[in-house]
Amino acid sequence: MPIWTPSMISSIMAYAIHVACSFCNIFVSRGVDERKIQDCTRGIHGNADLGKLWPPAECDQKRSCCYPTTGKPALDFGIHGLWPNYNNGSYPSNCNRTAPYDETQIEDLISSMQENWPTLACPTNNGTRFWSHEWDKHGTCSLSTLDEHSYFKAALTLKEKVNLLSVLEDAGIEPGGFYSLEAIKEAIKNGTGHEAAIQCNKDAFGNNQLYQVYLCVDKYGTDLIDCPILPKRKCNETIEFATFGPETFTKEGSFSALQLSCADSSLTVLHPIDF
Ligand SMILES: *[C@@H]1O[C@H](CO)[C@@H](O)[C@H](O)[C@H]1NC(C)=O
Ligand SMILES: *[C@@H]1O[C@H](CO)[C@@H](O)[C@H](O)[C@H]1NC(C)=O
Ligand SMILES: *[C@@H]1O[C@H](CO)[C@@H](O)[C@H](O)[C@H]1NC(C)=O
Ligand SMILES: *[C@@H]1O[C@H](CO)[C@@H](O)[C@H](O)[C@H]1NC(C)=O
Ligand SMILES: *[C@@H]1O[C@H](CO)[C@@H](O)[C@H](O)[C@H]1NC(C)=O
Repeated sequence: MPIWTPSMISSIMAYAIHVACSFCNIFVSRGVDERKIQDCTRGIHGNADLGKLWPPAECDQKRSCCYPTTGKPALDFGIHGLWPNYNNGSYPSNCNRTAPYDETQIEDLISSMQENWPTLACPTNNGTRFWSHEWDKHGTCSLSTLDEHSYFKAALTLKEKVNLLSVLEDAGIEPGGFYSLEAIKEAIKNGTGHEAAIQCNKDAFGNNQLYQVYLCVDKYGTDLIDCPILPKRKCNETIEFATFGPETFTKEGSFSALQLSCADSSLTVLHPIDF
């Protein structure tokens, strides 16, 4: 499923002279962490924080996360971001302040973004803040190969192409179960042809769970590549592949009371990433 027609490629190549970044990585994430649910009951923080409430990348333990105004995301991986990287694995940020996020350029992609790139920031919002953050901070760094529309389109197409959920399900790895980290890695390698970095966090019961999958992509955002540098993250040997939703909050625990206030309004929470 090629994204680029030959004529698009040649016009992009013409701009490639100033390419700063040699590859991108795509993050997809899932995960529930009840430690932040408590914040939900307290309501949302002061305005001072608003500018920083970028989920899921910057949902830290002091911030709660909420489903977007467009509703609870599907039980699927969501895109976190497509990040241009240097070959050494570090990444530039905020590369072009004269090309800020402009939603009018991606109107045709919004409904797909709502579905596949859902925000989890509080207060509940429509996603614009998350997407504009990803574009301003990361997207502008691949501007020489991907304009704004191409950038978002590339991430959406990659997510669809990779289809991580079915890759895992094809290997018998289903939401709600515990699996060996090795089995998950093998399944992704088998299903995508490339090794992924797996990031875990802890669920409400302290279990290690699959949180983010990191895969590398060529600088045009077209195809997966082997990561030049694969970040090493700690996960336990056995990890949970969690499901979203109230069922996660039904066991005993301090959050059972919070379920009344939060689970019912479809709250979910993601943990910070720090790749
Ligand atoms: C990675 O490479 C970039 C571009 O060459 C450079 O600016 C940056 O300092 C490097 N970072 C590290 C940690 O080596
Ligand atoms: C920054 O963005 C502006 C507006 O899109 C563009 O004209 C300019 O070439 C960009 N600069 C770089 C270094 O990419
Ligand atoms: C989201 O809401 C903001 C105002 O808060 C608005 O400017 C923007 O167009 C909205 N975006 C979408 C995709 O609904
Ligand atoms: C490997 O992937 C194929 C599909 O590409 C699938 O049919 C098979 O079950 C997978 N095997 C394992 C061990 O994941
Ligand atoms: C990870 O495994 C260690 C050793 O088995 C165990 O002590 C620890 O509780 C586990 N951590 C999580 C978060 O599951």
